Parts: sequence; C-alpha cells; structure tokens
Amino acid sequence: MRMRKKKNLAPRMEKCESVWVKNPQEYKGGWKHLFGNDNPIHLEIGCGKGAFITGMAKKYPNINFLAVEKVEDVIVMAMEKAVESELKNVYFIDINAEELTDIFAEGEIERIYLNFSDPWKKKKQAKRRLTHKNFLDSYKKILKSGGYIWFKTDNKDMFEFSLNSFAEENFKLENITFDLHSSDFKDNVMTEYERRFSEVGMPIYRLEAVYLDWKDKREKPNILDKLPLDKIQSVKLPFDKISINKISFDKIPVIGKKTEKTNNVPALKE
Ligand SMILES: C[S@@+](CC[C@H](N)C(=O)[O-])C[C@H]1O[C@@H](n2cnc3c(N)ncnc32)[C@H](O)[C@@H]1O
Repeated sequence: MRMRKKKNLAPRMEKCESVWVKNPQEYKGGWKHLFGNDNPIHLEIGCGKGAFITGMAKKYPNINFLAVEKVEDVIVMAMEKAVESELKNVYFIDINAEELTDIFAEGEIERIYLNFSDPWKKKKQAKRRLTHKNFLDSYKKILKSGGYIWFKTDNKDMFEFSLNSFAEENFKLENITFDLHSSDFKDNVMTEYERRFSEVGMPIYRLEAVYLDWKDKREKPNILDKLPLDKIQSVKLPFDKISINKISFDKIPVIGKKTEKTNNVPALKE
C-alpha cells in the first residue's frame, strides 16, 4: 500500500497513544498484562486501515487483539478507528513483521490473520510475501501448538503460492474456499481491500492453516493428509490446476456433483 506521508502524522499518532504500543519489546512474554486478563491473543499482520481488526474487536470482546502494520501513515487510520469506537481489547504495533520474534514469546499467540497480504509478484521478491517459508517459520515460533493462521486474498497466484508454502511447512490445511462470499463461512469480517475487490465481482480465496507441533510425534504426517480434499467448498475453481508441494491437483477426484462451471475439477461438496 503506497501512500504519501500524511500531514500532522506525529500529533495524530500521539492522540492515539491509548491504543498504540510504542515499545513492544517490553511486553515479550507478558502481553496479557497489557490487556489485564488471560483472554486468547489474536494478531493481525498488515492491518492496513483497520476495518477488520476493529470489526473483530467489537464482535469479540472476550478476545485480545493486536495489529501489526509497518506503514505509519496507514496504521494511524486504524488506530483512529479504535480510539473513536472506544475499544479496550485492541492495540497497535508499528513494526515490520520481520521483528515478530523480538516481541512475542513462544506460544503467546493463539491465532494470526493475514488479510490481502501484498503478493509481491516478481519471483525475486518472494521472500517479502507474508506467507513465505521464512515468515511461516517465525509464526511457528510465536503460535501455540493447535493455533491457527486465517488467510484470505483476492490474488490467485498468491493463494497458490501460499497453499504450497503452508503445506511444505507442515501446517495442516482446513476450510479452503475459492469463493469466500459464496461459501458457507459465516464468520467473515470484511477488510478494506476485500470490500473493494468484491464490489467489482472478484472472488476471495481463503484458507485456515493449523500449526501442530510435531516434535513429540514419532512421524510427521503424510503431506496429503494435510489437504482436506473433502472440505474444498467452492464451485468456481480459478486454477487450471493446483500444484501443492509439486503434486498436481487437476487429478483430484471430483467431490460431489459436477457442474459445467467446475470443468470437472474439485467441485462443491453436496
Ligand atoms: C494490501 S494491504 C492490505 C491491508 C488490509 N489487510 C486489508 O485487507 O485491507 C497490505 C498491508 O500489509 C502491510 N505490510 C506488508 N508487509 C508488511 C510487513 N512485513 N510488516 C508489517 N506490515 C506489512 C502493508 O503496509 C499494507 O498496509
């Protein structure tokens, strides 16, 4: 998200000091003290202007929300929304996601949200994608075993890249959909980007990735166990084929009834 520096940025940031965490390193291992309770902590990375995180904080008062965003001109708008709504269960951190392990202890986070993360289209920029292996490794360090990453995007190349990345990093994939707004997922809170893309009719891709700490187990699961083929929910498959961990999924058996639209690729479960 490119934006010109906002006028009066510094005073606007200061006005949001009730929700702005200026020294996040100080809370490492003790974020619950900031919230003053033991409620689960959910973290959004790349919150943009904050429609999602403030919407979630209103909807779920018993969850503690944190939002990371590296662009100050943008995070200030998210913080202003939270201040205006007088939310007490959300705080904002203006850092680069590369620093997550400096500010969170092992297992401190129960869920991570990645919404419309920048796709960084060029191959040489792949390391900047928030679902790149390097980022997934850092998420594993801060997530509880059994914790989730909820990921949604409008960008099918980014989605395909991410499916591969999660599978290769031994996350278990659940509730994959290629058209979120036509799926039976009822818990959706829209982001600014999501509103914009869905208004022009673009499908939204979504998945949930579960982090399971396999350390204690004798064997890692087979890679195919991690892809819940019976849960693929959408009729509009955007890919000619999906390649996950170098396995081509144009060969997956069709689930449920075939429709013309689906072109004999994974179809709606009936
Ligand atoms: C395409 S925007 C999406 C914003 C919002 N999530 C939405 O859906 O409307 C991506 C956001 O992620 C932020 N971002 C990208 N990489 C980041 C990183 N490494 N650390 C923190 N924020 C990042 C960008 O600054 C930008 O605001």
